[in-house]
Amino acid sequence: MFDTEMSNFNQQREQVINGDRRFSTVDGKLRFENVELDTLAKKYGTPLYVYSEQEIERNIREIETAFSAHKNTKIFFASKACSVMSVLKTIKNAGIYAEANSMYEVRKCLEVGFLGSQIVFNGVVKKPADLEYAIANDLYIINVDSTFELDHIDAISRRLGKVANVCVRVEPNVPSATHDELVTSYHAKSGLDLEQAEPTCRRILDMPFVKLKGLHMHVGDQVPEAEPFAKATRVMVDECRNLERSLGIKFELINVGGGIPTPYKYDEENGNPLEDNMYAGITSQDFADAIISEVHKWREDIEIVIEPGRKVVGSAAVLLTEVSCEKVKTFYDLDGNVEQLVDWTFVDAGYSQLADSQHFDWFFYVYNASKINEAHDKYVKLAGPLCDGGDYYHVGIKGDFFAVPKNTEINDVMVFLDAGAYTIESQTVYNNRPRTAVVMIDDKGDDRLIRREDTYEDITGQDIY
Ligand SMILES: Cc1ncc(COP(=O)(O)O)c(C=O)c1O
Repeated sequence: MFDTEMSNFNQQREQVINGDRRFSTVDGKLRFENVELDTLAKKYGTPLYVYSEQEIERNIREIETAFSAHKNTKIFFASKACSVMSVLKTIKNAGIYAEANSMYEVRKCLEVGFLGSQIVFNGVVKKPADLEYAIANDLYIINVDSTFELDHIDAISRRLGKVANVCVRVEPNVPSATHDELVTSYHAKSGLDLEQAEPTCRRILDMPFVKLKGLHMHVGDQVPEAEPFAKATRVMVDECRNLERSLGIKFELINVGGGIPTPYKYDEENGNPLEDNMYAGITSQDFADAIISEVHKWREDIEIVIEPGRKVVGSAAVLLTEVSCEKVKTFYDLDGNVEQLVDWTFVDAGYSQLADSQHFDWFFYVYNASKINEAHDKYVKLAGPLCDGGDYYHVGIKGDFFAVPKNTEINDVMVFLDAGAYTIESQTVYNNRPRTAVVMIDDKGDDRLIRREDTYEDITGQDIY
């Protein structure tokens, strides 16, 4: 007999294979964009990330449509969510722009073809060399995160005799129901206090080569409710209004950051997004409506800049990992009495290959792609290969237990859904296990390698001895 969690999970599995735009099945094997995942695992090896060009484009169109009530919107993809260059290229070809957080992110964006004028530069620590690179490449905006940074921008722009376009990042003091570490507009390290906005903007107006474009904020990532976006935008709008009046200026844009959530749990009827932000809670449209309605109370002619990352690539990739080992272990209490027999299923991807920004408490649907039509009716703990007791998947469907088909066997391909954001970017070579290869399925349904797995030389090549 299935318990409630297992029933819900299996119902969800049925819905995914029968009704999700990305997935289908043939001969009991799961397909992603009509390409069999078992075949890809054999062809390229595991662990393996597989991206869908179509899903990236669909996500971009969804965000564009959401903002159709405000034509003067510019979308900058937060490249920290996935900066694999072929993915960046797909995003560029889809017609939106890029946001970057380091000199090398900027450089990667330039290299795949974004113009400087299509890149926004963020970051709490931008060193003089980073700023010089940004100014030399005529970036669309540098978001000023500290007055210390502003002094450098002033000095560098004078020395180069080049204009630096800036926004001032402020903290609107608005919390939200996401992971604590993902809240960036309340008690956060980024940006300036609101009270500092006026003196900072005043200083910028005296700088000969620094051009003030507007204010910037970012509420947080995977934010499962619209209200914080509305509230924070209201705070920003009020501040912009006051600044325009007191400084006698007119802002060109307002940058409201990213934060549109991706659904990691789909059965929203069984959960509360405000308690569990793995339920997305809101759509791109809710995000857009919250922002546009507040901005329009002030000005309809202003440009709105958004910086979505997760929503663009989150649902666009799966991680394939092979069942490599199985064992049954006994949990004893301290007196030696048997508490529980635990089935362990080991896969070849651990947290060095899949941890959403190193959050071990992230939830992913995990299915046996080789036996996708079979009931997932056995509880197991799912562990990675790393030499670390913590290298197991912490959030299953019931505590830290996952469900797999009873006849799951070695070499079966397990698939983690919605693995496209902040995952490859967070990979490490812990235990000297290579970072994974990445494959793209293009619009025509053809697969191609877009990043190879690390080689031994990649891992050792920087050592000097
Ligand atoms: C300044 C800034 N903009 C945009 C983003 C992208 O956020 P998301 O991926 O949630 O859309 C982030 C993510 O942390 C950020 O810090």
